[in-house]
Amino acid sequence: MSNSADRPAVVKQDLANVIHPIVPHKQLEEQQLVIVSGKDSTVVDADGHEYLDGMAGLWCVNIGYGRTELAEVAADQMRQLSYYPHTAMNLPAAALAEKVNGLLGGDNHVYFVSSGSEANEAAFKFARQYARHEFPQQNRYKAISRYYAYHGTTLATLAAGGMGDRKMKFEPLSGNDFVHVAPPYCYRCPFGLEPTSCDLACVKNMETTIQGEGPETVAEVIIEPVMSAVGVAVPPDGYLTAVAELCKKYGVLLHVDEVINGFGRTGKMFAHQHAGIKPDIVTVAKGISSAYLPMAATVVRNTVFQSFVGDPSENRQVMQVNTYGGHPAAAAVSLRNIEIMLQENLAQRSAENGAYLLDALRTLARHKWVGDVRGLGLYAGVELVTDRASKAVMPAAQIKRLVERCQERGVIVGRSGGGRHLGNTLVLAPPLVLTRAEIDRIVSVLDQTIPEICPEAAP
Ligand SMILES: Cc1ncc(COP(=O)(O)O)c(C=O)c1O
Repeated sequence: MSNSADRPAVVKQDLANVIHPIVPHKQLEEQQLVIVSGKDSTVVDADGHEYLDGMAGLWCVNIGYGRTELAEVAADQMRQLSYYPHTAMNLPAAALAEKVNGLLGGDNHVYFVSSGSEANEAAFKFARQYARHEFPQQNRYKAISRYYAYHGTTLATLAAGGMGDRKMKFEPLSGNDFVHVAPPYCYRCPFGLEPTSCDLACVKNMETTIQGEGPETVAEVIIEPVMSAVGVAVPPDGYLTAVAELCKKYGVLLHVDEVINGFGRTGKMFAHQHAGIKPDIVTVAKGISSAYLPMAATVVRNTVFQSFVGDPSENRQVMQVNTYGGHPAAAAVSLRNIEIMLQENLAQRSAENGAYLLDALRTLARHKWVGDVRGLGLYAGVELVTDRASKAVMPAAQIKRLVERCQERGVIVGRSGGGRHLGNTLVLAPPLVLTRAEIDRIVSVLDQTIPEICPEAAP
């Protein structure tokens, strides 16, 4: 589809046949966005309107849109070998595994899947199977996770997540496999403390929980270093290191979800590298291919991988299989995507332009309804409150209108999905190729739109 004449036909065809994720169907009947092309940080709709995509799609198009070279890589690979199951070996998947392993320290093995949810599912199963092999006298099956976290959409990843409204229509979810603890969400610290003097109360809460549950029942702790769903909650200094130490103390595997955080988003290749920790399991998706094709992986340290190695009669291999894992075309495209990221220094660029973005966003604090501005790399949240003292959240209808008005002005911004009552943070996770002029434009549109939608917020 290349011109606006086709638009009504596509809308009709779509509304009659498609179930869209999470968006109310009635809303789609009124507002249809039909995107037909993209280049760098800009996407174009069927009417020819351009939008600066402050969300890189769904936090994933890290190298930007329109890299035709990736289309060539996919086509070449498909001509050579379109598919063969990963129970055998293939060239691009082996090369991609080596690349990803190298970026994560070189002492890992990589299991390929096609989405972040699947990567986390595989990780939960690996952690349980590892525990069954290594602690046969115990029953370590629980995962400790945090409230407000999002780890995926399947039943187990939903249970691991801590967003009540996403779960309520499906509960009860699986037993007591996933136990939740306080998140490191400093603006709304669950303990009412300040990050400079809290003494990491949230990590103490995690320790109390591990002790209370019984460490011999806990297989892993899952954390997303910077929590996306609640609006880019950056943890306090020392948090990641303290969680890593806790896991070591209780023999619990540390599973770091880098599905959004990874591949340059936070200004380093992986967010946990800011703290210099070594997780046992790292899950990646999105930026691994910049969403040119579906690709994701569960990366396991060799100390854990060894548990799955033995004589075939011992039956120690991972009890996991999926049709599309290690897909040759997706692997070839992902490998080239990572090479582009490295050649163009996009993680470093994310750090530098992210600092510029954060400074620019802080100028929005002159509007009374801006309660908090936070971020790391090209990854930022602007939390809107109707009263700074009480931190009362901005009403949902207003923040929805704010996001829509920005889009009408040609700038796509996201909003937090952290539960019904915490959808009040504007979110930015743009392509890492975003320019400073584009950052200025995003901030200027926000500056113009916030007081327009909420006149009470004007300075
Ligand atoms: C932190 C995190 N983990 C896992 C997922 C699930 O990834 P997918 O949508 O590819 O299944 C997401 C999706 O946004 C995510 O943000």
